[in-house]
Amino acid sequence: MKDYNAPTEEGIQRINRLQREFFSGLIHVFDPPLPEGVPERLKKIVASGKITKGDVILDVGTGTGILVPLIQEYEPEAIFACDLSEVMLAHLHEQYPYAKTIAKDVRDLTLPEDSIDVVFMNACYPNIVDKDRAFANTSRMMKTDGRIVISHPLGKSFVELLKEKSPFPLDDFPEKPEAKVLLKHYGFDMTDFVDEEKLYILVATKQH
Ligand SMILES: C[S@@+](CC[C@H](N)C(=O)[O-])C[C@H]1O[C@@H](n2cnc3c(N)ncnc32)[C@H](O)[C@@H]1O
Repeated sequence: MKDYNAPTEEGIQRINRLQREFFSGLIHVFDPPLPEGVPERLKKIVASGKITKGDVILDVGTGTGILVPLIQEYEPEAIFACDLSEVMLAHLHEQYPYAKTIAKDVRDLTLPEDSIDVVFMNACYPNIVDKDRAFANTSRMMKTDGRIVISHPLGKSFVELLKEKSPFPLDDFPEKPEAKVLLKHYGFDMTDFVDEEKLYILVATKQH
């Protein structure tokens, strides 16, 4: 089984720096109009989080905030939008000033324990270098019965295309059995799994 052995701290910092530079130059790629079918699939992804009014939401690797207006429709109490790239977050802030932006690696977020109801990681899982600390910290911040939604609106095979052009390494999305075991390690039970040609959604619930 694959595990989450991270590269060295120096390697993590180097890849995160490359990503920050890469995504900071790409902000308009994520602006609408989005590819055909993607807006509908993004709605499905957000619906998978089963947000109820007044929930506190964390969007990890939010980029320019593609999910933020869709999350806002559910009337959450707060949306925390976290990303490595300050440039992307500045673009997000211009469009969605109600979201609270945080420029940090998710592993270093200092939101209180048991404070988050729903976490989204859309098109971001392959990019997270230190997955062990990222998932440990995410689990710490989440409330019991909170949901984590790991997703891609173009399906997991899209990562293969990205790998051809990416200046930094990208991981594959996990297959169902692997995902179950990996998430269990961080206190989650997998509750939903969709793996279609153009849609990947993994939902897991934080246990006591
Ligand atoms: C492909 S973009 C996806 C952006 C957005 N979620 C979307 O669907 O349009 C991946 C984003 O993840 C961010 N990212 C990568 N590693 C991260 C980490 N460890 N913590 C927070 N954000 C990270 C990158 O800076 C980048 O903006």
